[in-house]
Amino acid sequence: MEKKRAQWGSKIGFILAAAGSAVGLGNIWKFPGRAYEGGGGCFMLIYLCMVVFLGAPLMLTELSVGRASQTNIVSAFKKLGHKGYSWVGWIGVGGAFVITCYYSHVGGWVLRYVFGYATESPKIYADSLGYFYEMLGRHADGTTAFPWAAILFAAVFMVVNAVVIIRGVESGIEKFNKIGMPALFLLLLVLLGRAVTLDGARPGIRYLLSLDWSKVTFNTFLSALGQAFYSLSIGMAIMITYGSYLPKTENIARNTGLVCAMDTLVAVLAGFIIVPAVFATLGEQQIGKGGGFAFVSLAKVFEQMPGGTFFGALFYLLLLFAALTSCMSLVEGIVAFLTEHFSWPRKGTTIAVCAVMFLIGCLYTCSQAAYPIKGIWFDAATGVSTPAFCDAMEFLTDRIMIPVCALGCCIFVGWVWKPESAVAEVEQNGVRFTLAKVYSLIIKYVAPLAILTILVMSFATGMTLS
Ligand code: PFF
Repeated sequence: MEKKRAQWGSKIGFILAAAGSAVGLGNIWKFPGRAYEGGGGCFMLIYLCMVVFLGAPLMLTELSVGRASQTNIVSAFKKLGHKGYSWVGWIGVGGAFVITCYYSHVGGWVLRYVFGYATESPKIYADSLGYFYEMLGRHADGTTAFPWAAILFAAVFMVVNAVVIIRGVESGIEKFNKIGMPALFLLLLVLLGRAVTLDGARPGIRYLLSLDWSKVTFNTFLSALGQAFYSLSIGMAIMITYGSYLPKTENIARNTGLVCAMDTLVAVLAGFIIVPAVFATLGEQQIGKGGGFAFVSLAKVFEQMPGGTFFGALFYLLLLFAALTSCMSLVEGIVAFLTEHFSWPRKGTTIAVCAVMFLIGCLYTCSQAAYPIKGIWFDAATGVSTPAFCDAMEFLTDRIMIPVCALGCCIFVGWVWKPESAVAEVEQNGVRFTLAKVYSLIIKYVAPLAILTILVMSFATGMTLS
């Protein structure tokens, strides 16, 4: 017998939950670093195109598949009459699983920083880079130790996630977002004002606005594509699952536009805060790419603003909320699948899955600075390589699993279920979808070709980090 599925409690509830899923560490911790690596302005431009031409249509696609099928990502394809496409769902759930392993740990670092700013901000200001590495288990004298602090905070972060998920989608996820999201946005505006007026910030702003196409390769496109999908929470179990909780009265097209706009705005804002701050402070050589950007560079911003310590703690607290709501959506996607597909109980499944993901995530944190744990990677140009485990994990999700799942969704909706079905799902309840023709064209031809080309070319030319 089929149980009645949960639904969003209010209209704003869904938008906040979807935006809450989209806006997270990806916008603030990943995007600025990627924009820097990708040459600044060019990356921004390519990223925006990815969001408009691929990201938004795909989000719309996932939401309509979810709402039409009213079930999780793997069963959705079967329910719509095409069991052969369930592999797309499996890749999506797999991607969400791998992401949660490391996402929960970075969430733990954020929690560590909330306490750091609240209790020992002078230590952060004195040596922000040293503080970051200390958390990850590398001491100033070069010796290493097990990163207890990072791991412990990650465990707390994961427990909070599990508790909210166990309590269910309406009560848990919606409530978190109503206050946290607008507050985060306001604070970002304040930080923007401080960051761009720091001494030495100007070259950073110029860098983000300049167009140096000589730095752009296929890999830049793949990086922007992976980042856009990651940031919008598509190419995984999430938007199909969230769409399945949507009442038929909701306008999916408008919601998609809103969520994409909010998410992109936050990412661009974060870029214009963090990249200038990096230029104004230690510089890229010392901060290192990726993670360090959001943790290390901002210390100078907080140190040089009135009430900086308070704002520092507040910023990481809001980032923590953003990370939690995103992580919850990932776990929800996985749990919804496992409980519906295997008829497992919600509580036990959530606890077991969260425990396993946390443990795998420990390898991610340990491989950052404390231990030389390696992953494995292969591309046609470089052959087999052994990047740090943490890098291999992110490559696997951002550069393979997400794009392949997205490609599968495009092919399914474009050629099997047909764009007309998605359009009909959008146009329920008298909604007019004015861009239906453009959407159909994109989902049938443009998106699959673009994703496939980018995937193949970057594999052929070598998938380096930059
Ligand atoms: N979109 C989230 C972020 O930018 O941090 C991360 C994320 C959440 C990715 C949910 C994927 C997902 F399904």
